[in-house]
Amino acid sequence: MTSIRSIKGTQDILPDQSYRWQALEAAIHSSMEHYNYKEIRTPAFERTELFSRGVGEETDIVSKEMYSWTDQSGENLTLKPELTASVARSFIQHNLGGQSPINKLYYIDALFRRERPQKGRYRQFHQFGIEAFGSEHPEIDAEVIALAMSVFNNIGLGGLTLKLNSIGSSQCRSDYRNTLCDFLKPHFNNLSETSQKRFENNPLRILDTKAPHEIEILKNVPNISDCWTAEDKIHFEEVCSLLDTMEISYELTPHLVRGLDYYTRTTFEITSTSLGAQDALCGGGRYDRLVETLGGKPTAGIGFAAGMERILLALGENNISKITPQVYIIGLGDAARTTVIKLTEDLRKNNIRTDFDVLRRSVKAQMRDANKGGAQIAIIIGDHELEQEKAGVKNLYSGEQDQIAINKLVNHINSLHL
Ligand code: HAM
Repeated sequence: MTSIRSIKGTQDILPDQSYRWQALEAAIHSSMEHYNYKEIRTPAFERTELFSRGVGEETDIVSKEMYSWTDQSGENLTLKPELTASVARSFIQHNLGGQSPINKLYYIDALFRRERPQKGRYRQFHQFGIEAFGSEHPEIDAEVIALAMSVFNNIGLGGLTLKLNSIGSSQCRSDYRNTLCDFLKPHFNNLSETSQKRFENNPLRILDTKAPHEIEILKNVPNISDCWTAEDKIHFEEVCSLLDTMEISYELTPHLVRGLDYYTRTTFEITSTSLGAQDALCGGGRYDRLVETLGGKPTAGIGFAAGMERILLALGENNISKITPQVYIIGLGDAARTTVIKLTEDLRKNNIRTDFDVLRRSVKAQMRDANKGGAQIAIIIGDHELEQEKAGVKNLYSGEQDQIAINKLVNHINSLHL
């Protein structure tokens, strides 16, 4: 019989990689605690309408990438392709805004998009991110960006560029849409098929093009800042000045519009020089109209999400240390077996990472296993040692060896402060 394999674009995270995920997750939880963000968890699937209304019918995500189906009772459901809409839904449904004027939320979750898989782009992938509801002021924009940078610093990731823009209020966006269409109309026939479609549905997305001839056409395109209102301008200048105060450097990127419809004003992306084509580690921005669009009371919001697979790719293999047993207990013979398992348990209760052999292998094979697993100390207990009520204690890093009374072993290992 043929074996069953995983679906294209999905990945198993095996033990030789999962410790890296755990380190990243620990860095995320730690930064979130420091910035006073609280975790929120939402279901894996939602009503399809949440994303068509929240993210926008014309976006790539909604128009072609969602895993959607109609269930047995005729409901249209979708596996979450992103989390901002889900978190906003939950915020509205549970009246979080009524309980507190400011809600600072974070998540770590799996998402699903039917994209063409390639390095750094998957059909099931993971994001961590935050959504802060309740403040329209630039302080929160600056904090959100600082928090993203803090996680990357915590995990030891350098070589990052913060790209920053403001796409203004919704009035500015619709004015700019007209300006952009006027500018692009004479070039329409030279645009790619995708851009011609976007011209009709979502012209701002044309600014995202990677096609060299379109980049050439766009060289003289008017900037969205030409359409900012006076308030948009002041807001953006304050965000920039707060980032300067916090010594966070950024690149002003007038073409950065982002691919989701809910954004207003501040938008940003963080890219890494160590990634190839899929270089965006993190994207986010303000969405001051989203809560209202989803049926809630008008509430300002801002957030970001970062792709965890991409972060780990950018980090490279060597930046995170493996968690290994500190002690490996080697037993020899039937009589030693109970002493070994009791001692293992005692050490574990003392918070010492300890392992032992469950395959009844030879001492040589057990020693090999201890070294391979990266243990620092091997404790050797055989018939001879049992008779003497002593165990051999070997430091596998330095080669030093001692004899220690079995009933003093836990104290002895504790005193080593491994
Ligand atoms: P997004 O730009 O669609 O934004 O995704 C954010 C990040 O998720 C990307 O920068 C990338 O690192 C990662 N990502 C996206 N698609 C894939 C994929 N197919 N494979 C691997 N990684 C991927 C959002 O999702 C917004 N909800 C962000 C946000 C939160 N805006 C405000 N709040």
